[in-house]
Amino acid sequence: MSSLHADIERVLFSEEVILQGINRVAKALVEHYDGRDFTVVSILKGSCIFSADLIRRIPVPLELAFVSASSYGDRTTAGELEISFFPTGEIEGRNLLLVDDILDTGQTMSRLKTEFLERGAAEVSTCVFLDKPSRRAVDLDADFKVLEVDDLFVVGYGLDFAGRYRNLPYVGVLRPEIYQAAGVQAS
Ligand code: IMP
Ligand code: MG
Repeated sequence: MSSLHADIERVLFSEEVILQGINRVAKALVEHYDGRDFTVVSILKGSCIFSADLIRRIPVPLELAFVSASSYGDRTTAGELEISFFPTGEIEGRNLLLVDDILDTGQTMSRLKTEFLERGAAEVSTCVFLDKPSRRAVDLDADFKVLEVDDLFVVGYGLDFAGRYRNLPYVGVLRPEIYQAAGVQAS
């Protein structure tokens, strides 16, 4: 049986480096909320692994919610955004922490933030596992971030290519032939 590891050209961030960064962000979040209630809103599917590791390092009360956002635009234009929030109706008056795998153009996060503020959230803060500042198309910076990456397409630790590689425990770059086999150019 073929292993996913064989498709990785190089490891960018090891599990150890990732968890060190998450510990730092978890401490900063405890300070930020300073005893206030908050809800961690994990953006599906990419942030599920990051969210699970993050919340287990935050030793104060919090709630957990999930949101899925599908955009019908391409990667540079903003199309219609369809949002499903679970559990429904738990937005008004809450302090929300939006958690995503990567802040790329920033469109997803920026539109979710606007939407939740419009729906009556008291505060919306943003937390990302990876930040790719070189690709930003909107004026948004994450309030909390674990690591920064150059303009490279990366997989693992929740991040996928064509739905795969989310379950790798580290972040890596795929071998070019994997993209070529799929008929796409890696950015
Ligand atoms: P944004 O709205 O452009 O910031 O989109 C962020 C989304 O694009 C992420 O949640 C990922 O699903 C996807 N994405 C952006 N860069 C990468 C990458 O390097 N690897 C895998 N997915 C990526
Ligand atoms: Mg995603």
